[in-house]
Amino acid sequence: MKYDVNDISLAPKGKLKIEWAAKNMPVLLLIRKRFAKEKPLKGITIGTCLHITSETANLLIALKAGGAEVVDCASNPLSTQDDVAASLVKDYGISTFAKKWEDKKTYYRHLNLVLDFKPQITMDDGADLVGLLHTEGKNMLSNIVGSSEETTTGVIRLRAMEKDKALKIPVMAVNDSETKHFFDNHYGTGQSTIDGILRATNVLLAGKKFVVCGYGFCGRGVASRARGMGCDVIVCEVEPVRALEAHLDGYRVMTIKEASNIGDIFVTVTGDKSVIDIDHIKSMKDGVMLANSGHFNVEIAIEKLEKEAVNKRQIRDFVTEYSLKNKKIYVLGEGRLINLTAAEGHPAEVMDMSFANQALAAEYLVKNKGKLEAKVYRIPENLDKEIARLKLESLGVKIDVLTPEQKKYLSSWEEGT
Ligand code: ADE
Repeated sequence: MKYDVNDISLAPKGKLKIEWAAKNMPVLLLIRKRFAKEKPLKGITIGTCLHITSETANLLIALKAGGAEVVDCASNPLSTQDDVAASLVKDYGISTFAKKWEDKKTYYRHLNLVLDFKPQITMDDGADLVGLLHTEGKNMLSNIVGSSEETTTGVIRLRAMEKDKALKIPVMAVNDSETKHFFDNHYGTGQSTIDGILRATNVLLAGKKFVVCGYGFCGRGVASRARGMGCDVIVCEVEPVRALEAHLDGYRVMTIKEASNIGDIFVTVTGDKSVIDIDHIKSMKDGVMLANSGHFNVEIAIEKLEKEAVNKRQIRDFVTEYSLKNKKIYVLGEGRLINLTAAEGHPAEVMDMSFANQALAAEYLVKNKGKLEAKVYRIPENLDKEIARLKLESLGVKIDVLTPEQKKYLSSWEEGT
């Protein structure tokens, strides 16, 4: 079997982590059991470019149980859990090309190695594999049944490709499922971002002025968890409705320029570039910490900071100290996804639903082979609701159902005051 991982001897530790995560992924496990019986993915090669975590491992195992040949690489050079990567190879027979701290060249070499398997389905977290397919791998497009995309940034790219008529394959936007973005983006990013900052720095959050740039599903999760830890939270947001929501949610809302003079910790979760630019950094206080939880490492102007700095040193794992003329600025996790770089990403409980969507997306693509256009599709609503229903069941939560009278009332218009 082909693979490229940092240390294959870490497999036993990785296997335990994968089993631990599985305990909190009941919906995915139900799908895995059904897949093992029905083999809906038989004969299909699936190439994935996802963060190599214990939760992702459980998705890959479910896809393999469904009859697929699975091959995977990392969707970020710093998010790979080396022990999990080793176990995927050794214990589960899944070809894995992922090394924590891999450089950009190795990162793309690994993506190409996945494409060498000539997958019919690809799964992305950030659209890098689809991007490669549409550039260097164009000759492989005709082999593709479809693809799926995990994250907001990836879906935005794919929609831009669709608009430009550049998209040549159908893509399932897993991120758009309610059982994905309401939970993974909000509760997952909220908790794992704080976890990443704490593991990187071990600072006391209580009393800190904590600036959250971006008030989408992820940003509001981060803001609410930071508030829960006793921070004084400031929100910066460009979209007026969201900014208004942040204001009424009780946060101080202001421009990044204004927040730059005040904040102790800054987190970017916007999906856009140069959100914290060098002029903002110049007006920050001594000792400020900068972290990013958006998909790409473009939100903080690190290259400009590198040029401005008179000295740079690694003061802790995942903390780089930049000395400017009059102050020190600390960048966490090299400005890459702090939750996956310094911590382990979102907890299994939320990834359970995200990856249930991924597994069902793969099954849907196979079932609808040849019928879908080169467009971005949502997972059908009935599958999204079914995931929520199964999750509630696994949590032992019962809910009411509408009576026939209530159903009728909701579909009629005659009854008034
Ligand atoms: N994205 C965020 N958290 C993750 C996790 N735990 N596994 C895979 N992808 C993730």
